[in-house]
Amino acid sequence: MKAFNELNSYKELQKHFDEIKHMHMREMFEHDPKRYQRYFSHIGGIRLDYSKNRITDKTMTLLENLAQECSLREKIQQMFQGKKINNTENRAVLHTALRNKGKTCIMVDGIDIMQNVHSVLDKMSQFSDSIRIGSWLGYTNQIITDIVNIGIGGSDLGALMVCKALENYGHPRLNMHFVSNVDGVQLQKVLNHIHPETTLFIIASKTFSTQETLTNALTARKWFLNHSLDEKFISKHFVAVSTNKEAVKEFGIDENNMFEFWNWVGGRYSLWSSIGLSIMIYLGRENFDSLLEGAYLMDEHFYNADFKDNMPVILALLGIWYINFFDAGSHLIAPYDQHLRYFSKFIQQLDMESNGKQVRKNGQKVEYDTGPIIWGDLGINSQHAFFQLLHQGTHLSPIDLIVSLSKKGNLPGHHEILLSNVFAQAQAFMKGKTYDEVCIQMRQNGIEEQEIQRLAPHKVFSGNRPSNMILLDEICPQNIGALIALYEHKIFVQGVIWDINSFDQWGVELGKELAKDILDEFKGGEESKKHDSSTKNLIQIYKNFNSNLKEK
Ligand code: F6P
Repeated sequence: MKAFNELNSYKELQKHFDEIKHMHMREMFEHDPKRYQRYFSHIGGIRLDYSKNRITDKTMTLLENLAQECSLREKIQQMFQGKKINNTENRAVLHTALRNKGKTCIMVDGIDIMQNVHSVLDKMSQFSDSIRIGSWLGYTNQIITDIVNIGIGGSDLGALMVCKALENYGHPRLNMHFVSNVDGVQLQKVLNHIHPETTLFIIASKTFSTQETLTNALTARKWFLNHSLDEKFISKHFVAVSTNKEAVKEFGIDENNMFEFWNWVGGRYSLWSSIGLSIMIYLGRENFDSLLEGAYLMDEHFYNADFKDNMPVILALLGIWYINFFDAGSHLIAPYDQHLRYFSKFIQQLDMESNGKQVRKNGQKVEYDTGPIIWGDLGINSQHAFFQLLHQGTHLSPIDLIVSLSKKGNLPGHHEILLSNVFAQAQAFMKGKTYDEVCIQMRQNGIEEQEIQRLAPHKVFSGNRPSNMILLDEICPQNIGALIALYEHKIFVQGVIWDINSFDQWGVELGKELAKDILDEFKGGEESKKHDSSTKNLIQIYKNFNSNLKEK
């Protein structure tokens, strides 16, 4: 395959970019007021208005040509069929199999994986039911009231995000806790609020070798044993979710209390697997199934729809347009719904760990930008914090604004304010405010001409800042499932176009290796010769500081 920047469609887009780069979206809307109808897509409970982008019909055609030239259709099929597209780890990438509601078999290494998928789902379901109805009892025969998920990254963020997003569907007796940080402050705070007799710990780790998770798990185990005083009770309060049976056994968790998943599920794509155990316990099997159904709906759409109508493909191509032609190095995710408060964090891992790559699948260095910096927070709060830079700063950062249409459950009058704000922001980003408009308004307000001249430049908004408006009918399991799958597939498409492997994450390894050496030194081991002078000094400062504390 040719490199992205050598493709004919790339060159066509480059020419087109030169024609359109100074065109303002205001003019686009003036000349083409119906663009909101054409640049609109609707799948299940999700609507996407992408008319406030710096695009014309020609842009979209050229971007679709780019997808064709990269054999996107074939690549989608390869992923869904279980081809080993994660070429550096020689693995299939099959999170789609976890929500496959179709009847087709999916073969990996000669085995139909769908049977395993269903049997683990059933095991999760039985276990979740027993916690929910109260038939699973702790070591003093009490029902479980608190669930503590101990995991990090993909073994934390997805489950955390979904449990918070769908808290209206959660079991009223169950308190959900998520511990990821090895800074003991987080675990300690949870331990202070729970009781060992009524708590279930879920140790979630794909590899079961992640230092932070295992350290937290061991501390939790010790705390539990300090109270229960007998190892035989562990099986009532600790379960594991992992691909690594041996390590789970070694840790002391019974195989019956282990929920399996497989190496063809990437950590950041794993909430659909047994990593979603905390989700199923909290929401119940039925709601978990709706989550899977929503994702399946998006999968089917992604697999079958023409690129011009394909929501994940559209979002991916728009992203490419800004990253590779407008030099936009970041992308903002701004949900307005309070339920989605962890959504940008989750997408940050999903996107940046997937597409933060600098070499192509064949190992050659890329000569173009790949994954953007994903950032974000709740939009309404961000309006009063960092949106200033988006409106008047010098960086271009495309924005996804995400909101739910349903006002069910909101306090009277609140939802209208929320929606009026998100629609207004999109309008302001697009239109901006010209110098003339600023002056007219100031004159109308009776401000003196000299003052107008002084202040006007500061009040100009350039506008022409792109945004996608993503409207969910409501926050429900099905729509959340579809929304997550939308982003998963968007990220996949971008990876295909850049010809990178979106499914490995070697970049996280170096820090882990170096931390091991440093930890050894903290524990009294020999000083490593490999450290630079700054690191050496930092280690010494830490050691001195703490030995001084001891002496005091
Ligand atoms: O260090 C990065 C990473 O491997 C992520 O990719 C993963 O989601 C996270 O750590 C947790 O890994 P595990 O589930 O194996 O504990």
